[in-house]
Amino acid sequence: MTSHATPETQDDPSSPTGTHPFLIDYPLGKIVAAYPSGIIRLYCHIRAHILRNRILAEVGQYMPSEGGVLEMGCGFGLFGNAFALTRPEATFTCVDLNERRIGHAQQAAEKLGIKNVTFHAGNATELITSQPQQQCIYMLDLIHHLPPDSVTEFIRTCWDHVEPGGKLIVKDVADRPWHKCAFTWILDVLMTKGEIPNYLSVNQFLEHFDALGAQVSVHCLDDYLPFPHVLYVCRKPR
Ligand SMILES: C[S@@+](CC[C@H](N)C(=O)[O-])C[C@H]1O[C@@H](n2cnc3c(N)ncnc32)[C@H](O)[C@@H]1O
Repeated sequence: MTSHATPETQDDPSSPTGTHPFLIDYPLGKIVAAYPSGIIRLYCHIRAHILRNRILAEVGQYMPSEGGVLEMGCGFGLFGNAFALTRPEATFTCVDLNERRIGHAQQAAEKLGIKNVTFHAGNATELITSQPQQQCIYMLDLIHHLPPDSVTEFIRTCWDHVEPGGKLIVKDVADRPWHKCAFTWILDVLMTKGEIPNYLSVNQFLEHFDALGAQVSVHCLDDYLPFPHVLYVCRKPR
């Protein structure tokens, strides 16, 4: 795993348990087991391997341990539930376009007794405008599913909804290396039944974030699996 761009300074150095957030062990197996349907458990099991603990540690180290956290495009809520379970002092709001996914996410949270997360069905690009400012807004593999002409305004609106001193965290896939990009493209087209994903290059993402005046760190989350994961952490000055 390699890190690029601005050297990172950790500004949320401990979770309520005193463990450095990079070391949190996300109980993904337990969360996957809480989904009622076998097909969804299989999907979440695969997803939990793609974004497994090693990758979640990279993302999660920037996630606050308290305050409001908003996840856009949460899918079945696997990661929203994982972050909420390990950060009981933070309040998570998770949004996805797909009502069925939201229903399953909510059921899993109830089964696991996770009280600090709520799930809402709706279009992230519209729902964001009605949200209060948050300590953190994050999204995992959402941006490349949005209509290309909505991305600039969506990123800007999310940024406007981050509190001073808070963060916008974006995990997406890059357009390089080409073989990983091609594999991810095929999988995305199959999973979405024909929607064409819009992968932005690292440069394109940085242009978006620079225009916001964000302090940005970029991590290329190299992995043996064929996904060109890239993590962007945008800090809003106080
Ligand atoms: C690749 S999945 C990622 C799900 C989850 N973040 C994860 O990492 O497992 C992309 C998700 O974005 C959702 N999505 C796509 N467009 C959306 C929109 N405009 N508003 C909210 N969710 C959206 C899809 O329904 C899907 O669940």
